[in-house]
Amino acid sequence: MKPSGWRPGPVVVLSLVAIASLAACDTKRNTTGGGGGGAATATGTGTGGGEPATGTFHVGHYASLTGSEATFGQSTDQGIRLAIKERNAAIDAGTVKGRKIKLTTLDDAGKPQDAGNAVTRLITQDKVNALLGEVASGLSMVGGQIAQQYNVPMISPSSTNPQVTQIGDMVFRVCFLDDFQGKVMARFAREELKAEKAAILFDQGQPYSKGLADYAEKSFKEMGGKIVTRQAYGSSDPDVSAQLSSIKQASPDVIFLPGYYTQAANIMRQARKLGITAAFVGGDGWDSDKLEEIGGAAVQGSYYSNHYSPEEETPEVKNFVTKYKQEFGATPDGLAALGYDAANLMFAAVDRAPSLGGKDLAATIATTKDFVGVTGKISIDPNRDASKSAVVVKVENGRRVPVKRYEP
Ligand code: PHE
Repeated sequence: MKPSGWRPGPVVVLSLVAIASLAACDTKRNTTGGGGGGAATATGTGTGGGEPATGTFHVGHYASLTGSEATFGQSTDQGIRLAIKERNAAIDAGTVKGRKIKLTTLDDAGKPQDAGNAVTRLITQDKVNALLGEVASGLSMVGGQIAQQYNVPMISPSSTNPQVTQIGDMVFRVCFLDDFQGKVMARFAREELKAEKAAILFDQGQPYSKGLADYAEKSFKEMGGKIVTRQAYGSSDPDVSAQLSSIKQASPDVIFLPGYYTQAANIMRQARKLGITAAFVGGDGWDSDKLEEIGGAAVQGSYYSNHYSPEEETPEVKNFVTKYKQEFGATPDGLAALGYDAANLMFAAVDRAPSLGGKDLAATIATTKDFVGVTGKISIDPNRDASKSAVVVKVENGRRVPVKRYEP
């Protein structure tokens, strides 16, 4: 985990000063790799109370803008950019006092080594005040170590593996955890789908997938269900026919598939071709429009647990969906909503912190109580985690129909 020892990977730079309009920012997207990210240095030193601070607060976002989880990084970045645009506009209009936000986003291509390089660079070269990221738990574990080492606060919008925030006092999250999510998947399968027998097929290269498989298995058994087979695949295995044959033979009522969307969709396609008709149940890692683009008919009628559904009728969700559609011409997925919430929660802490030093800011983030987000009310607990409800959605012709909500 030593950043200095790493071979530099192909870090793609998306440098943008969020003070400028979003359209203008887009033209600054630099996909050639190498230099140029985030030239300005942080100006924040804090005010110690009294007059509201001026100057900018520099946020670094490390994200999978490319690779097989590309929509995770792209959606999250859009959610963050919307939050920044709104805040900076309110400061310009004089309705909000505080620091404007500047954002530098680096692509990690969904790879651990690139994630480490991106975070090191954001901290040591771009001199960011704080970090947002990553989505994938395995990448947050790499980036979180570096953030902790340099005393730079980091909020993961969406990494659900319990180990992420165990790294130390600089690392936070604003989403639920996988022990809870695994229980939600198990309960849904047992109580709503009336499943007696379940199979598990997980990605052994992803800490997220392995952890969620373990939690779903444990809960399903505790509820009297039987795990008839447990199979693994590798993060880049294109062919899982051997594992699927074993699953078919075990004739489960449901198949837990706690992976990321690209492979989950490919696996469901292969399964349907093999004549497997059991219902698939996934976790938040399925949350992408690409699930259906890749999976087509094979993914219809499947269920997954998630942080929010754009179809929920709360004022926060409706308002966010409208604004996001206006800005980006797409319906926001869960990643966009969590990116928006993580950014706004961080900015609220910036406004309250006695100084922008890493320790002070982290201590202030830790005091967050009842922050009203799009994905629900967020309070940061002593483990730097959030306790939130989950919603199981059904994949239905481009929609994510909310089926059942589970409270922690
Ligand atoms: N929870 C997943 C992880 O920890 C990431 C994720 C969150 C993916 C939300 C999609 C939606 O790796």
